[in-house]
Amino acid sequence: MSSPGTIPFIDFKRQYRLIEGEIRGAIERVFDSGYFILGREVESLEREFASYCGSSFGVGVASGTEALYVSLLACGIEPGDEVVTVANAGVPTIAAITLAGAIPVFVDIDPGSYTIDVSKIEEAITDRTRVLLPVHLYGQCADMAPLLEIAGEHGLKVVEDACQAHGASYGGKRAGSLGDAGCFSFYPTKNLGAYGDAGMIVTGDAGTAERARLLRNYGQVDRYHHRLRGINSRLDEIQAAVLRVKLKYLDAWNIKRIEIAGKYEKHIVNGLITKPGKMEYGTHVFHLYVIACELRDELREYLGKKGIATLIHYPVPVYLQEAYAGLKERTDCPVTESSSRTVLSLPLYPEITDGEVSRICAAVNIFQ
Ligand SMILES: Cc1ncc(COP(=O)(O)O)c(C=O)c1O
Repeated sequence: MSSPGTIPFIDFKRQYRLIEGEIRGAIERVFDSGYFILGREVESLEREFASYCGSSFGVGVASGTEALYVSLLACGIEPGDEVVTVANAGVPTIAAITLAGAIPVFVDIDPGSYTIDVSKIEEAITDRTRVLLPVHLYGQCADMAPLLEIAGEHGLKVVEDACQAHGASYGGKRAGSLGDAGCFSFYPTKNLGAYGDAGMIVTGDAGTAERARLLRNYGQVDRYHHRLRGINSRLDEIQAAVLRVKLKYLDAWNIKRIEIAGKYEKHIVNGLITKPGKMEYGTHVFHLYVIACELRDELREYLGKKGIATLIHYPVPVYLQEAYAGLKERTDCPVTESSSRTVLSLPLYPEITDGEVSRICAAVNIFQ
């Protein structure tokens, strides 16, 4: 519970109160069915979310990290293969790549969108590269047209990390539907969030979908017969039922996010602050509203004292993490490093009030 006067970074209870009846009804439906793993709710969600994304197939999994891991395996990644990606999107993407036995190769980011700098991809490709893995960070797609062209020229697969981009678009197509596989997290904070862990892979390719479906369930074709070496990454019925309720609201919630971002854009006026860049090629759905400031840590402390919660996404590039230090050697990402020192996420969720947004703008504006 937040104390009076504080503005939390996110408040799940506000959204829950608005849809409580529907959520309880959906959960009861699952209990009444007596079916809890990979049942009708999961199958329906797979169809509904794939169709929302403009993809033919959906494969429910247990998290976004495993959506990435299973997609890489379904795309044929093998130990020692290289996957070209970014280092500014947190550890899960890289955890998935390394779990698959592959080697992440980092490309720097574009300072306007914080997504992969497509002009630097070509130089990262070697004869071991198999996959390009762009991350649609903060709610905005990477520049997919040139990326897909490079992938085509080099015979590479494209796995999209769309874990922060439910409903974002690029050139009129939805995030997740642009590459060979699109990976989503339904972690509670996401634009479409479960009440626990959950994830999904969407793809237009029947073979990829079929392999992912087997891989998430021990590679099993029918009971006790295993065609592939898979894992247990099944999606449960309760989370699927919750997500089916929430999916109906996703577009309205995204519109609300875009409106709130518009208010920040209009009312934050402080020369020390850089506001997020919106790329012309698509729709930004503002999973996060990320400003940049050279005095980021001072700004964060100052806002904290005013009762305004903020977060940093993300303070340490992955190759500078202790666990991934071995990846630093081949890496040269100055924009990734400088942005890790300046980015700051302000509270933005559909239920934040106008009064709270105004208070945040006013506080940011008098920071010096
Ligand atoms: C960009 C990105 N990739 C991958 C993930 C992993 O998703 P999950 O937490 O559901 O495993 C997340 C979410 O945490 C994310 O934001």
